[in-house]
Amino acid sequence: MAVKCLEIKDREVREKFKKIESFINSEHKLNDNQGMLMGVLHKTQEVFGYLPPEAMSLVSDRLGIPTAHIYGMATFYNYFTLKPRAKYQIFMCKGTACYVAGGGRVLEKLQETLGIGLGDMTPDHMFGLNITRCLGCCGLSPVMQINDDIYVRMGPEKVNAILDKYRKKETKKKKASR
Ligand code: FES
Repeated sequence: MAVKCLEIKDREVREKFKKIESFINSEHKLNDNQGMLMGVLHKTQEVFGYLPPEAMSLVSDRLGIPTAHIYGMATFYNYFTLKPRAKYQIFMCKGTACYVAGGGRVLEKLQETLGIGLGDMTPDHMFGLNITRCLGCCGLSPVMQINDDIYVRMGPEKVNAILDKYRKKETKKKKASR
């Protein structure tokens, strides 16, 4: 069973490398390797969810750009991450208005439902849980953000339905890519 799991994982990783290769091939006609780098790093992060060292080596080989330069760029921009990151980053506002309006109960419900603590991510890398300072819509507190989506007037009773929405989205994506 464990061997089978490893085989599947290897196959998935190979597929991801292929995606990056074909992206580089499609952009190659531009003939500007340095200019392509940013786009290739974006694609790599989109495919892997972060920038693994093996992918950085591939990019370096294919574009003929030293890995030190690529690391320099990857660490300069906050957008890029060298560590695996959850697909959906949840930020619960811990500002005063949200706290007073019951944000703490929402956070407790999130922790209980996801089975993780603050700063952690679920084992399937689907959700990461964080707190944030005021999100700027205190009049609609408690406020929660998941990637680019903002949820206002949050309550613990809304948590399951919201998380399910993202789970369903991922299931749909997986089915479509088969
Ligand atoms: S305190 Fe939460 S949005 Fe301002």
